[in-house]
Amino acid sequence: MIGRLNHVAIAVPDLAAAAALYRDTLGADVGAPQEEPAHGVTVVFVTLPNTKVELLHPLGTDSPIAGFLEKNPSGGIHHICYEVEDILAARDRLLANGARVLGTGEPKIGAHGKPVLFLHPKDFTGTLIELEQA
Ligand code: CO
Repeated sequence: MIGRLNHVAIAVPDLAAAAALYRDTLGADVGAPQEEPAHGVTVVFVTLPNTKVELLHPLGTDSPIAGFLEKNPSGGIHHICYEVEDILAARDRLLANGARVLGTGEPKIGAHGKPVLFLHPKDFTGTLIELEQA
């Protein structure tokens, strides 16, 4: 059911420092910061030959990653995103298998303008999983 790895999202306490680390030390293709007010984050996209890394920093007072950074002050992997062909079919299969879908269970439009869902990390070996309709 799941397809390509779309991205790995890393929450970072200092976006400029993390962008410089990926650009200068790791030699990656690093974009400019983009504010995503609807998602409560500022994102820097790191484009790799086979996938992307998204460096996330809280934006606004109600950011979904603020609590994560409080628990992980030096940053850390926040979620991984897999592509699926049909997000509603994927959701129904997951629910039928006892997995928990976060929120209302209805897909939201994600940072790339495509429908996404998040799955409970306790159901997936401690990893927050995002599904994105390809
Ligand atoms: Co994501």
